Amino acid sequence: MSLTFDIHRRPDPATDERRAEILANPGFGQHFSDHMATATWTKGEGWHDAVVEPYGPISLMPSAAVLHYAQEVFEGLKAYRHEDGSVWSFRPEANAERMQRSARRLALPELPTDDFMASLKALVETDVAWVPAFGTGETSLYLRPFMYASEPFLGVRPANEVTYSVIASPAGAYFPRGLEPVTLWISEGYARAGRGGTGAAKTGGNYASSLAGQLEGIEHGCDQAVFLDSATHTAIEELGGMNLFFVTDDGRLLTPELTGTILEGVTRSSILELAKDLGLEPEERRIEIEEWKQGVRDGSIREIFACGTAAVVTPVGELRWEGGSAPSTAGDEGGEVTRSIRKALLDVQYGLAEDTRGWLTRLA
Ligand code: COI
Repeated sequence: MSLTFDIHRRPDPATDERRAEILANPGFGQHFSDHMATATWTKGEGWHDAVVEPYGPISLMPSAAVLHYAQEVFEGLKAYRHEDGSVWSFRPEANAERMQRSARRLALPELPTDDFMASLKALVETDVAWVPAFGTGETSLYLRPFMYASEPFLGVRPANEVTYSVIASPAGAYFPRGLEPVTLWISEGYARAGRGGTGAAKTGGNYASSLAGQLEGIEHGCDQAVFLDSATHTAIEELGGMNLFFVTDDGRLLTPELTGTILEGVTRSSILELAKDLGLEPEERRIEIEEWKQGVRDGSIREIFACGTAAVVTPVGELRWEGGSAPSTAGDEGGEVTRSIRKALLDVQYGLAEDTRGWLTRLA
């Protein structure tokens, strides 16, 4: 039987004035709506105690397994306001299914797709006033489902008590500089994930392991780091929080193939499907970092962009590494193909183009 979320409204929600002030300039990941959805799993009982309750601190024992062994997975998706006031999500079942795959890899219980959807609907219906208005730029209510080992136990084994929650954060553009191309640093010393590891799962540890590489990049004047495969350190994988695409001079759209060490982005797979509509030939394969360096110099690579739920489609500019750099092909705001892919996605998400693939699900 699927979960029903009991609604416990907070007595002291944000005032209309305070909410309007936040929605006028939400930034990314800084502000949170009034409520959160939570459910508990125990080994004997399965999923139960589903509630929407006030957003606030969570109570965990210092011995909670997640704090020691990082048994945790999460998701990221957005709720978009359409012109008629309705609120929609983009391919939420893909997030539900990826969370199930991530949970299997981290030995966590799977949350059925119906329960995942019920949690999103319950939270978004309760906090619908937190979804930014239609026509206010690239704004949305960013939804962050997450699941963690809450059992207070220090033995190393899968937890017998697990908590699932969804929080909601009104969001503007992930990169405050908008479409200005990001400069990338090749992380030569740090790999993000290895064969047989957790690279394909959306788990906090992958993001933690990307931070030292990102810091190294920032120290070299870059915005983000690009990670290479851990076996040969020659093949492009991903940025840690985003997938990469390359537009060639003969109309191909290249992206690194899924090797088990790369996150299968929902935006990545949507772009691969949209490619044909835009007259591009999608190609998933191993891509050497040398191919990038060469391609931008000889003109065979015309455009490069990164993609993810949070940042949508972001032009990539210069590539730097210890002792060298490869030039940007992105101009001031990315190339024509980058911009048309970005527009095609956003138009479906905001209800400005027909949803021919059935990608949208109404939340409120
Ligand atoms: C997303 O695009 O939703 C991500 O997961 C990237 C980052 C904010 C963790």
